[in-house]
Amino acid sequence: MMEKLEMMYEGKAKQVFKTDRDDEVIVRYKDDATAFNGAKKGTITDKGVLNNKITTFFFDLLAKNGVPTHFIERLDDREQRVKKLSIVPLEVIIRNRCAGSMAKRYGREEGEELAFPTIEFCLKDDDLDDPLINTYHIRALNIASQEDLDTITKLAFKVNDVLKKFLAEKEVILVDFKLEFGKDTKGNILLGDEISPDTCRFWDANTLEKLDKDRFRRDLGNVEEAYHEMLRRLTGKEN
Ligand code: TMP
Ligand code: ASP
Repeated sequence: MMEKLEMMYEGKAKQVFKTDRDDEVIVRYKDDATAFNGAKKGTITDKGVLNNKITTFFFDLLAKNGVPTHFIERLDDREQRVKKLSIVPLEVIIRNRCAGSMAKRYGREEGEELAFPTIEFCLKDDDLDDPLINTYHIRALNIASQEDLDTITKLAFKVNDVLKKFLAEKEVILVDFKLEFGKDTKGNILLGDEISPDTCRFWDANTLEKLDKDRFRRDLGNVEEAYHEMLRRLTGKEN
């Protein structure tokens, strides 16, 4: 039996605990919600429980489809056992439709279909507000090698293919999402972090209703209901 030891790190939505194994950590999902780099703060009742289950579901689905992830097992309502990663400090964003910061930046209508899925990278640095960064800058600043970027790009589009297809069957449009990658103790690039309504835009395919954290970011109401609805669509279960 693995032992949970002291907290190593606390982020905005999760805590990470050491274990007695140096290649594994325990992630604990919180109900805290932030937006605009922490400028807006709140809590979403049971978000931690729901995101733990939703992430577990997606990481299982991805593993079955050959995407290597840090996920090992869900331990209880709020905790997961995962492989310890040294995180590549990039937020990797895939978009199928133009929404959020992309729609704002280019003056496009939210929801415009893109001619093909796109990728962008942001430097993961809260003090700098996670600025957009291009692949030349990533390499010139020694943030990641070309080889690692190639692996990350290939895996990110693969995640998109798997999730988009699965969600379409559940009548959900995958508008965009954010991934994080890291290296395990052997140097393999694995998908890390979470995949949940906190980190994706999910729209109902029929009504275009938002089923994700934009309900919190934009004060649209029915925030908890949206997270519950996503778990129900994925698993057919209420809890
Ligand atoms: P954006 O349109 O605001 O750039 O967001 C793109 C996607 O990334 C969206 O699905 C939400 C997700 N995201 C995060 O997971 N964390 C963040 O800090 C931000 C800004 C976006
Ligand atoms: N990661 C952002 C923050 O912590 C939230 C978001 O927009 O998803 O404020």
